[in-house]
Parts: sequence; structure tokens; C-alpha cells
Amino acid sequence: MKTMDVCKDIDCVRAFIKSIKQQFKTIGFVPTMGYLHEGHMSLVKASKNMCDITVVSIFVNPKQFGPKEDYSKYPRNLERDLGLLEEAKVDMVFIPDVGTIYPEGFSTTINIGHLADILEGAFRPGHFDGVCTVVTKLFNIVKPDKAFFGEKDYQQLKIIQKLVKDLNLDIEIIPIPTKREEDGLAMSSRNTYLNQEERRRAGSIYRFLLKAKEAFENGIKDTDEIIEYAKAVLDVDAVDYIKIVDKETLEEKTTPSKYDRILIAVRIGSTRLIDNIEI
Ligand code: PAJ
Repeated sequence: MKTMDVCKDIDCVRAFIKSIKQQFKTIGFVPTMGYLHEGHMSLVKASKNMCDITVVSIFVNPKQFGPKEDYSKYPRNLERDLGLLEEAKVDMVFIPDVGTIYPEGFSTTINIGHLADILEGAFRPGHFDGVCTVVTKLFNIVKPDKAFFGEKDYQQLKIIQKLVKDLNLDIEIIPIPTKREEDGLAMSSRNTYLNQEERRRAGSIYRFLLKAKEAFENGIKDTDEIIEYAKAVLDVDAVDYIKIVDKETLEEKTTPSKYDRILIAVRIGSTRLIDNIEI
């Protein structure tokens, strides 16, 4: 049985990709920051279904963390991750270190403009520049036919779609629905930061989203009223934003319509969580 290839440097990836392309096989790519859960694995499964060869990257990208954010304490467990990917029959895993992606003298930044400045971008300045820069590099290294992104990070998904369009990258972006825990909490590597009581309260985020959707379906057509109606179920320490936005442009809607997206970012204790659903 063929075992999974593991590459730490770019030459290794390029050699692997070259041999795959010579066989005219299609390449599916799942970029991650590791500490894998079922959400990540649903992206992997989709890639396995749609492509001949599946490549996963694990790289905690320092450029997408702010100076006061959790880069150094971001959860990591490479051994467990590699086991899960091997089990899922992934063909190749790319695990570069920081110096491989950002060697001495690296200075380019990809900024896609307005879409990166609103919502998450307003609370995490520079975050999406870091995401776009690393994803562009990974795309150029792996040269995939299709790349898989979760709707969990809805703004990131829309930004990557715009990046691909604006730069004419010949890659199809495939969105994958959010995987949730039994109480509805969106799976996230950051959920491990929550203590038992915080974890229990985190379930209220999804209940809030469903309640807002219910309000809309019951005929409440004003965004503020929808949020006011649903907010009673939300049990968090702080709200960074709750917005209903156009699903493509992410522009705020004061009177939402069907297929708009409700986006929420909250803090529970010192943990920041985001989620979204279609209204
Ligand atoms: P990470 O948070 O590890 O997520 C990797 C991919 O998994 C992203 O596309 C994300 O949207 C998806 N994902 C996370 N939780 C999910 C869930 N519960 N259900 C479905 N998909 C889920 O997002 C990043 O890493 C980074 O920003 C990255 C794109 C790798 C660039 O560094």
C-alpha cells in the first residue's frame, strides 16, 4: 500500500506535483493550520471525492495573527494530525516551517482591498493580508486544480474567491458547509481554549443564529429588530459584531432578503469565536 508523502521543503512539493501532473491527474488542495477536527476532514473528504490526488498543508501562519493574538499558543499536534490524514488516505502533506515560507528578506504582501477591511478585518487589522499572502504562496507551490475552503470562515472564503478572480488564478474554489458539534457549536481548533462552563455557553452562538433566521422567516424584516429578538438566547461575554450582509459583497443590509448571511463574532472569556449561517 502506498504511504502518505510528507514534504517539509518546497523542492520536495514541486517534485511530487511534477510527477502527478505528468500523469495528467487532478490535484485537490486543503490548506490548514493543523490541530485537525471533523471540519477540516470534511474538506479532505470533498477533495478525495472530486480530485485524483489530495494535498493538505499544515502551517500556522504568523502573518495572519496580530501582535496581541494567539500565534504562540495556537494549538498544535502534528503527530495526531498526520495520523488522521494518513487514515483519510491523503496523498501528500506539506508541513513547512516559518523560514521556508518567509525566508530572510521576504517582503511581499497581498492586499485585496475593501473586502479585507470590513467585519473581521476591522477587528483584526492585517489578518486577511496575511491569509491572502500565504494562500497565494501555497497555491503557487502546490498548483492545485481545486482548493477547498470552509463556510465557517465565510469572509475568508469570499476573499479567497476574489483573490483567485482578481489575479486570474486557474484554481476552482470549492466551499464546504460548516461542521458542528452536537449542540451546534461550529468546530474550531480554538474551541480547545474554552473551559467547561465557557464551552457550554458557546452553544448559544448557533442557537442565536437559528433564532435570528426564525425571526426573519416569521416576517421581521428589519436587521436591528431581528437581532434584538434573537439576542435573548445569546450567552457570551462580549459581541464584536453581529451583521446581516449580502452573501457576495458582504455589504451590510438593514432590511435583509433571503440568502443573505448573518455573521457573528463574540468573545467568551479570552476566546474569540466566529460563526455564520444563511438567513
Ligand atoms: P484553519 O482555521 O485551520 O482552517 C482550515 C480550513 O478549514 C478553512 O478553509 C476553514 O474554513 C475550514 N474549517 C474550519 N472549521 C471548519 C468547520 N467547522 N467546518 C467546515 N470547515 C471548517 O483557515 C485557516 O486555517 C487559515 O486561515 C488558512 C486558510 C489555512 C491560511 O493560513
